[in-house]
Amino acid sequence: MTGSTVAIIVVAAGSGTRLGEPEPKALVSIGGQTILEHALTRVFSLADAAQVIVVAPAARLDDARALALRIAGAAADHVTVVAGGDTRQQSVEAGLAVLEPTVDVVLVHDSARSFTPASQFEAVISAVRSTGGGIIPGLAVADTIKQLDWTGAVERTVDRSQLVAVQTPQGFPRAALIDAYARAAEDYTDDAAVFAAAGLPVTVVDGDPLAFKITTQWDLRRAESILGEAAPTA
Ligand code: CTP
Ligand code: MG
Repeated sequence: MTGSTVAIIVVAAGSGTRLGEPEPKALVSIGGQTILEHALTRVFSLADAAQVIVVAPAARLDDARALALRIAGAAADHVTVVAGGDTRQQSVEAGLAVLEPTVDVVLVHDSARSFTPASQFEAVISAVRSTGGGIIPGLAVADTIKQLDWTGAVERTVDRSQLVAVQTPQGFPRAALIDAYARAAEDYTDDAAVFAAAGLPVTVVDGDPLAFKITTQWDLRRAESILGEAAPTA
């Protein structure tokens, strides 16, 4: 798959219920730029992205398009902006529907992981090319994890050496991902689960703490302090 053409689908259509801001999460500002702009700044720093698809809230499509084109600059020709759906899975499907014909590697990325370094995208792209399978970035789990019974009592300690906390971008060969999405029978929370449900192999590469997902107000404060301390590595 060397020389493959890469598309990055940035899903940004969520409402951000847990963040609890009046704006949809992708349009919430941190240090003067929206969450979507911070994410796209890193995406457009990649030499490899032949197409960038932004999946935006239907009610804010024009705003999202304006932001995306501004960050894209000279790469504006490579940007496609589409409206998302009610679930993340539907939003990814909206992105898959507008892939350019030449694309053969697809990365799906959460706009809410705004500070994901370019090196993480590059590692995922190169691992998809070398393995031909699905690739996800993961971090070792630091906390001890307990499984509870239905009453909430601790049943057992889970062996955390076999657990990873999964991030994005997640990368896949185009044809296999489209096939997996066409077969997806239930609502999955990530693309690797859709891919694996179709019986396709997924492997993990090292994630990065900077790829954390802005989910709650606490994450927003963490993002503000990262921006305040130093520009995160692109
Ligand atoms: N997402 C999307 N379309 C949806 C739901 C989520 O494009 N219908 C995107 C979000 O914009 C985000 C990513 O998927 O970049 C991960 O979702 P999450 O962090 O759960 O964001 P929200 O769904 O917006 O937040 P919440 O669950 O708190 O409402
Ligand atoms: Mg959500």
